Amino acid sequence: MTMRDTERPVGVFDSGLGGLTVLKELHRLLPCEDLIYFGDSGRTPYGTKSKDTVIRYTFQDINFLLSHNVKMIVIACNTASACSLPHVVKSCRVPVAEVVGPGSRAAAGGTKVAVIGTPATIESGVYKEALKSVSPDIQYFGKACPLFVPLAEEGWWDNDISRAVAAEYLRPVAESGADTLILGCTHYPLLIPSIRAVLGESIRLINSASAVASEVRSRLEETGLLRSRSGTEGKISFYTSDSPEKFASLGGMFLGQAVKDVNKIDIEAF
Ligand code: DGL
Repeated sequence: MTMRDTERPVGVFDSGLGGLTVLKELHRLLPCEDLIYFGDSGRTPYGTKSKDTVIRYTFQDINFLLSHNVKMIVIACNTASACSLPHVVKSCRVPVAEVVGPGSRAAAGGTKVAVIGTPATIESGVYKEALKSVSPDIQYFGKACPLFVPLAEEGWWDNDISRAVAAEYLRPVAESGADTLILGCTHYPLLIPSIRAVLGESIRLINSASAVASEVRSRLEETGLLRSRSGTEGKISFYTSDSPEKFASLGGMFLGQAVKDVNKIDIEAF
């Protein structure tokens, strides 16, 4: 492995702003790494689109990040992972990390595990499979919550409307008796106050972001790609397929720090 390889950035993408919840943990755990984030806000949501469309979008997102010479791709989108992972892993020339595996492993110890996600993620059954391989005894309950993504992208995280929508979606989760709830969409951590208002404090909520960041660090170590210049703060670059101004103002709230210098790209060109 050459020095140049360790210096290359890590590429992260999502259908929009949700993946910034993963980016935040990546930057916290790997502060020396340069990170490139692409949010496909012009085509969000992915979770209500067909599998073929999501696969096409995912490959374009990856091609864009590869054009920046990234050393690893992080699919910070459950929907893209659920629809495309086997295709991506087969053909991608750099290591690929994603969210479903780490989120499922983080649920180990749960007996009744509920998963909320986009319709595409829940219909794919990927969490059911992944949880079965964590423990065949886990009882799975899946529930699609399609309105959570537009609520999160609108910044409506904890108001009367978000709580009313959460109450409607999460009633069957409460009735299922789940002890653990996986937030199977990277937008959903923003809605935790509304989710907690409905389900209470006793259910264990899994936000896969920190588990994903740990996995990325291990993979970078294993492949000799970890950048280890302590004291040097990595650079974060932002790209979107929609308004950079909107991305910057809402993105800052997702990331918990200012989002500057957002570049607009034509993703259909990739
Ligand atoms: N944030 C994405 C996920 O983790 C998807 C949201 C969407 O575009 O539907 O599934």
